[in-house]
Amino acid sequence: MPIRLATTVADLRAQGTALLGSRQGTSQGLVPTMGALHEGHAALARTAVEQNDVVVATIFVNPLQFGDAVDLGRYPRTLEADLELLEAQGVDLVFAPAVEEVYPGGEPLVRVTSGRLGEKWEGASRPGHFDGALTVVAKLLHYGLPAAGLPDGSGQPAYRAYFGQKDAQQLALVRRMAADLSFPVEIVGVPTVRSSEGLALSSRNRFLSDAERDAALVLSRALRLLESRAAAREPLDLDSAVAMVESQPLVELDYFDVVDPVTLEPLAENCRDTPFRGEALALIAARVGPVRLIDNVPLSS
Ligand code: PAF
Repeated sequence: MPIRLATTVADLRAQGTALLGSRQGTSQGLVPTMGALHEGHAALARTAVEQNDVVVATIFVNPLQFGDAVDLGRYPRTLEADLELLEAQGVDLVFAPAVEEVYPGGEPLVRVTSGRLGEKWEGASRPGHFDGALTVVAKLLHYGLPAAGLPDGSGQPAYRAYFGQKDAQQLALVRRMAADLSFPVEIVGVPTVRSSEGLALSSRNRFLSDAERDAALVLSRALRLLESRAAAREPLDLDSAVAMVESQPLVELDYFDVVDPVTLEPLAENCRDTPFRGEALALIAARVGPVRLIDNVPLSS
């Protein structure tokens, strides 16, 4: 069936309800995106299609989460290609609203605040970013809530929303928001998709030159090093991994640390001389040419 498009909330709800009804479906998946889609988004969409009767994807470049108008203006807009990619994964309906549909009164006065968890790591260099992202995610979760799909009677949640593990801090915050504010939704994290050389896919990678792309591979190499040390229960020796990244002249490291996967607080004692035990997340962020790149890997022993 060809993919359907809605640009208003009323139409999204009407089409979503009709789709669920026609399939006698009880589960709906929501895949929020800002467009400029790549294989990473395709993986989110595919997972949602596998797990739900009806899948809605949203494409909305949210002004509230951009620090400046230049960055917002240059964010790639590729609607036609995005619709094709989503259709190929089996997504049923795309919600692609104008800014006025999402923020009819202009910038909202009341927003979701991301608290301490939103101020560290990415939040430290992008003040207000996570408040803006959580505010729009809250709105999108409301818009996508299936009128006919909750609950399905078996005790299983019938409304699921999909986010990439690549944006680990965003995922942790969305999970926290859903728990703290009692959203009736299951948040599903989908593993990072990488190029064959290891670079985590991102809409911003298209701004890298060939040399910068090659240089950026040091990020995933350093993460893989920690991953293998953790799996072997060796000391992580984070300093040597940091030195490896810093030796690449085109890469300007911002942070590289090992944190608790839920609170994202640093786990200093696990990083240096003691054999690694347990679960953690290695987080990295660096500027490479014009682009800020982030990546992470789960560590487990
Ligand atoms: O990860 C993104 O693409 C965005 O932050 C999101 C979740 C769609 C909110 O605008």
